Amino acid sequence: MNTDNKKKGYLTITFGCQMNEHDSEVIAAMLEKMGYSAVEDRQSADIIVVNTCCIRETAENKVFGLLGRLRKIKESNPNLIIAMGGCMSQQEGMGKRIKERFRYVDIVFGTHNVNKLPEFIAQASEKRRQVIEVWSSAPEEMEDIPERKVSGPRAWVCIMYGCNNFCTYCIVPYVRGRERSRNQHDIVNEIKNMVGQGVKEVTLLGQNVNSYGKDLDSDIDFSDLLVMLENIEGLERIRFMTSHPRDFSDKLISTLSESKKVCEHIHLPVQSGSSTILKHMNRGYDREDYLRLVNKIKGSIPGVSLTTDIIIGFPGENEKDFLDTMDLVRQVKFDGGFVFVYNKRSGTPAAKMSQQVPDEIKSKRIQDLIAMQNEFTLESNEKEVGKVLEVLVEGKSKTRDDRLSGRTRNNKLVMFDSDEDLTGKLVSVKITDFGLTHLGGELVFLSKDH
Ligand code: SAH
Ligand code: SF4
Ligand code: F3S
Repeated sequence: MNTDNKKKGYLTITFGCQMNEHDSEVIAAMLEKMGYSAVEDRQSADIIVVNTCCIRETAENKVFGLLGRLRKIKESNPNLIIAMGGCMSQQEGMGKRIKERFRYVDIVFGTHNVNKLPEFIAQASEKRRQVIEVWSSAPEEMEDIPERKVSGPRAWVCIMYGCNNFCTYCIVPYVRGRERSRNQHDIVNEIKNMVGQGVKEVTLLGQNVNSYGKDLDSDIDFSDLLVMLENIEGLERIRFMTSHPRDFSDKLISTLSESKKVCEHIHLPVQSGSSTILKHMNRGYDREDYLRLVNKIKGSIPGVSLTTDIIIGFPGENEKDFLDTMDLVRQVKFDGGFVFVYNKRSGTPAAKMSQQVPDEIKSKRIQDLIAMQNEFTLESNEKEVGKVLEVLVEGKSKTRDDRLSGRTRNNKLVMFDSDEDLTGKLVSVKITDFGLTHLGGELVFLSKDH
């Protein structure tokens, strides 16, 4: 608990994807502008902002569990403001549910009015009443993202909001609204500003970055945006996610193959290897389209690493469909993959589909798939041994603080010893060993900017 002459403390707790991580950074910047300063622990916070995710039920349960624990903290610090934002807040009936079951939550806001949080905080603290303000869609005139202070050499940059794809299993279009691209000049200016603060690598974010620009008046597309960003002096690396296979154009492939700054890693969620299931998922491509795309990408971008997302147990998935997925994974040999068990999201078309797959079958299939993918991940990591790779140092390793860690251009985590703190530097590391989650190496020499 803080007294008036001390700066008030804030804490953000973030669930879900990079989009939420990004929004939490924006929230942090707004709170700092209001005079709050970051604190590490819940007990010393005057405001806690929970940024929620509802992609699967497990994500929601984590949030409900956390809210329960925050109640105890609020009991010992009645002045604490608890605010809940993010995708869960956008779900129908959530405001009412919070009002009834979590009365100690002071503010509920959504994904379309993050910028309004300072006003809601003022209302909640003046009137001591619950403020529930969730907008069902984005306002016509969007304000641009408030300026953020960045720390470290990497930053998230949101290039578009929302999603128009309506994959039948997915809740995102309902909670994040329609696709809206940010103006290209705003994006360029934000990145220039970040580079001025020491950022060397940006990851461009959007649910489907490949459809960037479709809603803008100018005829800019994602490839054109990448070319604009390539010219920013001082920016060393560009990443992006997520790519939808349906919208991955030949123009984009040639831009990627010509670019020096865009890194050789593409996250290309396939979701299933069965054309029947892909059709029911409304993904807009079939197994052959996906395999053709992968071949084109591999043929044009030497050393590219490919990662994917797969959903197991989508309604109607039979043994043959599952084996098609196993076979596709075997053919592509992804460098890494995230595999999820299908989870019913109410309000989505798939939740009403018959032939839901029993839990035992889902869990057997996911185990088989993960075991196989792990072998490919290991194989891919083993191939790096002996190579000297460029690593952007992010700081001390999370597991051993006598080591530094950073990522290669193809997005592999590397750990190595160093007496000197090289955070923020691009260095060369000789890879000497490998595991499932990271590579180990030795610093060879300091490259480029040391
Ligand atoms: N826009 C991105 C991903 C967004 S969600 C894309 O289209 O690829 C991240 C991942 O969560 C998805 O790729 C999908 O694999 C998974 N996912 C989404 N809804 C799900 C559900 N209902 N059950 C299980 N996994 C789901
Ligand atoms: Fe969800 Fe599909 Fe949109 Fe990705 S593209 S966010 S999976 S609806
Ligand atoms: Fe979750 Fe929302 Fe991201 S539902 S995965 S935080 S867009």
